[in-house]
Order: sequence, then structure tokens, then C-alpha cells
Amino acid sequence: MTHVSLITEGFEYLKTRLPLYYKTESRLRGLGGEYFEFAEPILKTILRERKGKAGYYRALDALVRLSLDYLELQAETKKTRRYRYSSYAEVQQKVYDNPEVMGEYYLDGLLLSQVFWVNHYMICRFILAFASTLDPGMRGIDMPCGCGIHSALLLSKVSVRNHVFCDFSSRAIADSIRFVNAYSSTARAQAIQLDARERLPFNDSMLDYACCGEFLEHLEDPKGLMREFRRVLKRDGRLLITTVAFTAMLDHIYMFQSAEQVRQFIADCGFKIEQELVLAVSGRNEEIHLAEKPLNCAYLLSLQ
Ligand SMILES: C[S@@+](CC[C@H](N)C(=O)[O-])C[C@H]1O[C@@H](n2cnc3c(N)ncnc32)[C@H](O)[C@@H]1O
Repeated sequence: MTHVSLITEGFEYLKTRLPLYYKTESRLRGLGGEYFEFAEPILKTILRERKGKAGYYRALDALVRLSLDYLELQAETKKTRRYRYSSYAEVQQKVYDNPEVMGEYYLDGLLLSQVFWVNHYMICRFILAFASTLDPGMRGIDMPCGCGIHSALLLSKVSVRNHVFCDFSSRAIADSIRFVNAYSSTARAQAIQLDARERLPFNDSMLDYACCGEFLEHLEDPKGLMREFRRVLKRDGRLLITTVAFTAMLDHIYMFQSAEQVRQFIADCGFKIEQELVLAVSGRNEEIHLAEKPLNCAYLLSLQ
């Protein structure tokens, strides 16, 4: 079987669970060949790494659960104008330390969302474009690595030596290493288990790049982490961040109301925007300037 049929099979299954995947499928197919070139190797890796179709379908089920979480939580946020949880401790208990979430569907859902959610795919392209600017000898981190997708993309584009995965969750580190090794046979990444709310275990001005995907909104004090990125990055180092505005998930606690607020936050933290990608979760990108619109945002930053 070809892996284009894995994409088709995935969408066929998702559409039986959630009709919103009809629209998603047509938007992604409309993006053309690059999408298939991106999605095929990821699904092929999942199939190989999970030893067959049953594992693939379990991962699709994980995505369905994550999608249902989003729909429920976003409807709640629209009414309350806040995220369900506001403290890291609550989220740690409900999500990160909860095997029914973290082990059952969170990480696999996140992985499959890169292929089956338009905005996550567009963000992966943004990361791939950044990866193509890296030199092989550069030193960098992916923090937190989550399911490992961003590391896999960074390591597939160029042979980035001295690339380190970091996460607080041992499960995330294990999943990331498994996925990255299966995706790219040449990857030789190291992993560090750390708490990003503390001082990072890197010397000052040591790193050429840092990738921080979907994490600032998980912290009570995201500025503290941005200060640490400033400290550990070289003067000409670059930071790639992705985040959301007004977009709920179980583990989102810090709310950016708009892309303008994210830009102000970036400037306040002493970074300059080199490139940005702001996308409406609804797909209506002409609305990204309006207040309280759910957004995905990605930025490539340098030090001011
Ligand atoms: C939404 S995922 C993001 C993963 C990945 N960067 C991505 O974009 O797909 C959030 C990750 O943050 C990790 N995490 C939560 N609290 C953390 C902490 N205090 N320090 C480091 N990682 C943490 C979780 O284990 C989870 O893997």
C-alpha cells in the first residue's frame, strides 16, 4: 500500500468520528504536493514504529480525543474568557502526571495533529524553513520536545549535531526519542529531563538556537523562561517559538488575547521578530486582527 492511502485512510476514519475533518481534509488537500511529501513520511514512521495498522488507529483515536477536548474547552473559553485551569499545579495533576491523559492520548494526539490539523502543518513548514538555515555544527535545544515532532523536523533537514531534547515528562522524552530515531536513521540526539520553570542547565551564550513549541501558554510566568532563553542563546542565536492566543487546551493557563499581545510580550522580553506566522484556528485568516479570535502563532526571534 502507498502512504498516500495512509493519509486517505486517516481522514476516512477521522470523518466518521468528527465531521469537522471533512473541511480539514479539503483544506489540506488544497495545499498540494508539499503536504503529501510532509505527511507521508510521518505516517509511515508511525506505522513502522507502532508495528502496524492497529497502532496507527490507536494514534488516530488519540487525535479524536484531543480534538474533542479542544472543542469542549474552546466553547467554555468563549463563554468564560478564560482557560479552564489557571495554575500550573492543577495542570500537572490533571494532565502531565495523569497517565490517562499523558499516556493515553495527549502525546499521540499531538503527533497526529501535525498531519491532520492545517495550522500545525503550516507551523511545521515554518520550522522546516528555519531548519534549512541551520549549520550542521550548531548547538541547540528543543524544549519541551513533547511528541518529538519538532526535533524530528530539525534533525531531518540538516544533521544538527549537539541537538538536545528537553522535557519535564519522562514519557515525552521516551516517545520523542523513539519517534525521532524511527523518522530519521541518522539522528543522534541527546535528552535531558528538566523543569523549564527553573534555571536551564546550560551555560550563558552557549546555544545557537532554541525551539520552544506550544509551551509559553502552559506557564504561569512565561517571561521567566524567555529570560533563560536570552541567557543561554549566543548574541546571534535564534529562538523559534510557537504559541496560541485565545485558544483553549487542558494544559493552557496563560492567555494571550491577540497576536498583538504576543508581539508586545516578545518585545518586553528583549527579542526582535525576524519572521512570523499568525493563523486563525477557524481558517478565516482575514480575522486575525480581531479581538478574541483563536490563533496559532509562530515566531522566529533574535536578541534585541
Ligand atoms: C503541548 S506540548 C508541546 C510539545 C512540542 N514542543 C510541540 O509543540 O508539539 C507541552 C509539553 O510541555 C511539557 N512540560 C510541561 N511542563 C513542563 C516543565 N515545567 N518543564 C518542561 N517541560 C514541561 C509537557 O510534558 C509536554 O510534553
